Amino acid sequence: MTARTLVCYGSSEGQTASIAERIGDALEADGYDATLVHLKHPPADLDLEAYDGVIVGASIHMGHHQQYVTAFVRDNVEALNRLPSAFFSVSLTAAGNDTDSQETARELLAELPTETGWEPDRTLTVAGALKYRQYGLLKRFAMRGIAGRAGGDTDTSRNHEYTDWDDVESFALEFADELVALQEG
Ligand SMILES: Cc1cc2nc3c(=O)[nH]c(=O)nc-3n(C[C@H](O)[C@H](O)[C@H](O)COP(=O)(O)O)c2cc1C
Repeated sequence: MTARTLVCYGSSEGQTASIAERIGDALEADGYDATLVHLKHPPADLDLEAYDGVIVGASIHMGHHQQYVTAFVRDNVEALNRLPSAFFSVSLTAAGNDTDSQETARELLAELPTETGWEPDRTLTVAGALKYRQYGLLKRFAMRGIAGRAGGDTDTSRNHEYTDWDDVESFALEFADELVALQEG
C-alpha cells in the first residue's frame, strides 16, 4: 500500500525548498507518493483531503516563520488536525550544539502550531544554511553579525550548510511508515 504525502513549505533563501525536495526524493525512493508545493504560490485547487498525510516546512527569518505558511496552516487547520501531519522548522539556531540553542529552536518551532491551533503528530527542528554568497551586501553583513553572536561561521567568502540530511530523511520515512501502518489498521 502506498501513502500519498503532501510536502508543502515556505522558503525565503532556498534551503527549506532543498529540504522539501530531499523529503520528496526519500519518500519516492521508498515507494511512497510525494507531491511538493511551495506555499508562496499554491495551486488554487490544492485539496488536503486528497492526501493520506501532510508534511509542512518553514524557515525562521527575524524570529518567525514565513507569514504565508502560518496563514496556510490557519486556513487548513481542521484538515491538518484530522489527517496525520508533521512539521519541520528550519533555522540557524537549530545548528547550535548547546542545550540553550536546541531549546530556543524548539520554542521557535512551537510558535506556529501554538498560533494556529495545529497539533502536528511529529515535529523536527532542522539546521539551515548561511548563504553569504547569495545575500546582498547589507544582508551579508547583518547575517555575519547575527551568526557571529550565535557562534556560527563568519567567513562570508563562501556559503555554510548545517543541515543533517540523514535526520531529515529519517523524519520523512518514519512519518510515511506511520501512515502505512495507520492505513493497514
Ligand atoms: C535575513 C535572515 C534572517 C534570519 N533570522 C533568523 C533568526 O531570527 N533565527 C534563526 O535561528 N535563524 C535565522 N536565519 C537563518 C535562516 O533560518 C536560515 O538561513 C535558513 O536556512 C533559511 O531557510 P530558507 O533558505 O528556506 O529561507 C535568518 C536568515 C536570514 C537570511
